[in-house]
Amino acid sequence: MALEKTLSIIKPDAVQKNIIGEICSKFEQAGLRIVAAKMAHLSVQKVQEFYAVHKDRHFFGQLVNFMSSGPVMIQVLEGEDAIKLNRELMGATNPTKAEPGTLRYSFARDNTEDEMHKNIVHGSDSPETAATEISFFFQTEEICPRNN
Ligand code: CMP
Repeated sequence: MALEKTLSIIKPDAVQKNIIGEICSKFEQAGLRIVAAKMAHLSVQKVQEFYAVHKDRHFFGQLVNFMSSGPVMIQVLEGEDAIKLNRELMGATNPTKAEPGTLRYSFARDNTEDEMHKNIVHGSDSPETAATEISFFFQTEEICPRNN
């Protein structure tokens, strides 16, 4: 296992539900450490840039509207196998298909099929994506890794 960093976004639906703390507790209880954090209300342009890989997908407009609709909490999480561990904690992209115990199951399982974009959290899906996504939101000096 490797010590990794991954980017997490607690999305506008979770901020609206006032469950930032609960979600952060789940990260910490699983062994992840929050090494950078900021709240932001992202502009349409910033969201379009962040999710540019999805720009030709049918859900892109809906996703951009949603992610720019209210504040988000953006974090860098650090830990052993952090990328995979965070994705396990999040559960399936579609909350109606997420396993019990995952964040998306716990907080969005009652979403309708057309609310798939409202899935509580985002997490990087590979080491390459994590590096790109972390540098999209954070300067090096804003990240405070564990002192060994
Ligand atoms: P996220 O992990 O942030 O990565 C891309 C996002 O696009 C995803 O979570 C969902 O919010 C959204 N998304 C992915 N697939 C669909 C879909 N089929 N319909 C609506 N939204 C989607």
